[in-house]
Amino acid sequence: EENPRSSWYKGHELAAKLYHHLLLESPEGKRAREYLRARGFTRKMIETFQIGFAPESWNFLTDFLRKRGFEPDDMAEAGLLARKGDDGRPFDRFRGRIMFPIWDKRGKVIAFGGRVLDEGSPKYLNSPESDVFNKGRLLYHFHGARPSIRRKNEAVLFEGYVDVISAYRAGIEHGTGSLGTALSQEQARMIRRNADKVILCFDGDNAGRQASWKNADILQAAGLEVAVAMLPQGMDPDDYIQHHGPERFAETIVGRPLTMMEFKSAFLKESKNMDMEADQLKYVEEMLKEIAALPKAIEQDHYLRQLQEEFSLSYDVLKQELGEKIKNTV
Ligand code: GTP
Ligand code: MN
Ligand code: MN
Ligand code: MN
Ligand code: MN
Repeated sequence: EENPRSSWYKGHELAAKLYHHLLLESPEGKRAREYLRARGFTRKMIETFQIGFAPESWNFLTDFLRKRGFEPDDMAEAGLLARKGDDGRPFDRFRGRIMFPIWDKRGKVIAFGGRVLDEGSPKYLNSPESDVFNKGRLLYHFHGARPSIRRKNEAVLFEGYVDVISAYRAGIEHGTGSLGTALSQEQARMIRRNADKVILCFDGDNAGRQASWKNADILQAAGLEVAVAMLPQGMDPDDYIQHHGPERFAETIVGRPLTMMEFKSAFLKESKNMDMEADQLKYVEEMLKEIAALPKAIEQDHYLRQLQEEFSLSYDVLKQELGEKIKNTV
């Protein structure tokens, strides 16, 4: 029996092929080719990730699909086309954008992310959610990365399309993307079913740091060991690769990730002036809270001793403070 949504899958597959062809071959795609070249995309990356270009037109894809027997109304429901109002006529949703196909777990194209070529807004336009496209239930390029994830028993999680693609060029083939949203338990379980460990490699800004912290809890709750590949302030993985090169990224950032406690310590210090006594005390307080939440007494002891040494504090006082914190949390 044919899948009731088979026209949606076919429409997306066809659109992906068309956009990809336009990017590589057409005169309209020239500006997009130049844009990607300037950002360091190679032909191989464009092909591996089936990147495309949607021309600046209201009816290009609409007409193309209609000519091939697809119902525009059906394609609007699939999210490929848009329409004004419920009974409005379908038209091209994506216009003048670089197109990143999004695959489901089986490797079928089910949605797109479309990036503007300049500073326009929104920067990324995504397909709307539908029966087949649910952002919280998939990870970008997971299907492609899965064999490497299993082989390495590890996944690297990024925020953005471009980060996954740039990292791939740096040899990080087990990278997948959360596409800028908070992780769901289902996404955490997807990774867990294929690996024991995950490395978070989010943008080096406050939002990225906070997302790492929050997502780590969800991933750990799913039974994953979590480490953080922490980027310098103001850089995302792709920026880092452009500035410092793919080798350095693979070796020093992804290759030497921080433990969760190292990451938390670095993040808590970053926002403080550690020359100031008041900030130091605040830092110790915050770290004690994290230490109190550790599951094993031996780990707690280890980090307590570190704090004690770093700030020449009394171990007994710290231990007593920790006891208070533990009492308050249970
Ligand atoms: P580049 O500027 O192309 O390097 O993108 P980026 O990945 O660095 O973008 P950013 O860090 O701002 O966002 C990370 C991810 O969040 C993107 O890859 C998108 O998946 C998503 N995102 C960013 N901006 C938007 C937006 O305007 N709309 C939607 N729906 N998603 C966005
Ligand atoms: Mn941003
Ligand atoms: Mn970001
Ligand atoms: Mn970014
Ligand atoms: Mn970026």
